[in-house]
Amino acid sequence: MSIRVGQAGLGEWGKNLVRNFDELADLAWLCDTSEELRERFAGRYPRATLTADFDELLADDELEAVVIATPVPTHHELARRALEAGKHVFVEKPPAMRREEMIELLELARERNLVLMPGHLLLYHPGVQRLKQLVDSGELGEVLCVYGNRQNLGVIRSHENALWSLGVHDLSVILWLIEEEPEEVVAVGRDFLQPGVEDVVFCYLRFPSGKVAHMHLSWLDPHKLRKMTVVGKEKMAVFDDMELERKIVVYEKAPWEPAERYGEWRTRTGDIYSPNIPVDEPLRLEVAHFLELVRSGPGDHREAVDGLAVVGALERLTESLRGS
Ligand SMILES: NC(=O)c1ccc[n+]([C@@H]2O[C@H](COP(=O)([O-])OP(=O)(O)OC[C@H]3O[C@@H](n4cnc5c(N)ncnc54)[C@H](O)[C@@H]3O)[C@@H](O)[C@H]2O)c1
Repeated sequence: MSIRVGQAGLGEWGKNLVRNFDELADLAWLCDTSEELRERFAGRYPRATLTADFDELLADDELEAVVIATPVPTHHELARRALEAGKHVFVEKPPAMRREEMIELLELARERNLVLMPGHLLLYHPGVQRLKQLVDSGELGEVLCVYGNRQNLGVIRSHENALWSLGVHDLSVILWLIEEEPEEVVAVGRDFLQPGVEDVVFCYLRFPSGKVAHMHLSWLDPHKLRKMTVVGKEKMAVFDDMELERKIVVYEKAPWEPAERYGEWRTRTGDIYSPNIPVDEPLRLEVAHFLELVRSGPGDHREAVDGLAVVGALERLTESLRGS
């Protein structure tokens, strides 16, 4: 049986979610406050009912799941109302702008045994999944540091800064790879174009195990970079989403302390290889995962717990940024 789904937010990103939910589920409702968008989508998706009123969609007793792809400041309120109405929720990243709000959503989902899944798209990317395997299998050895580059002379947002718009992606991956919450976070940046909206942000995170992470986030940059580097004690791996074929490259490069030369470090260089990464669309895999959770139940709410860690770190990084 196809899962009955309704989606709020039919904008630039929302249209991609609509396409996937229409293919994989019974997309019964489409909701947007823009009349122009409602008219456009009514033509494309004649089986769905269009509305400007989110409550109308929630009042459908048969509706099982709600997808939220509206602007970030509206996420918490809409997700809360959907959970209170007994619906499973997929909500675009980040689901809330404050840790307290995310805790409230998580508690609601737990109380009512509902799925609450934040749209951390990169976690469903086959390349990032492979990076996680490399870390978890121990192939890289002990992980020492991870750093992300997300730069481009790209869309200059006026509501979210580079940390909230770009950093949320890298942060979700870094926390997922390291599986710890940072004990120290520092963010510095500058709002060159619009007051209060940082275009360039540098972040540093230190974890209880001693691992460190760094993020360079900017939409003022000559390079288009979508890269994550993991430095292990045995090997190093790079995920580069701009590469068509070599999305992951593993370098057998490591520090090495020869037994006969106590206290003296050397470096070791061996093979460099690139494993085959499936070309499946990450968004389709993400949507399929959500529908699977709706079918099987939320389990230990891992997705929402991961989302809470991301919102918590974002909030702390923002405090640091504002103090900079
Ligand atoms: N996962 C990703 O890679 C990715 C990429 C881009 C954007 N996003 C996320 O997707 C979300 C939407 O981004 P976008 O670029 O599509 O924005 P957008 O501004 O293009 O679209 C948002 C839409 O929501 C509608 N809307 C606003 N308030 C509403 C309400 N109360 N009820 C119903 N509709 C409402 C607006 O009319 C608009 O059409 C954001 O949270 C963004 O962070 C995720």
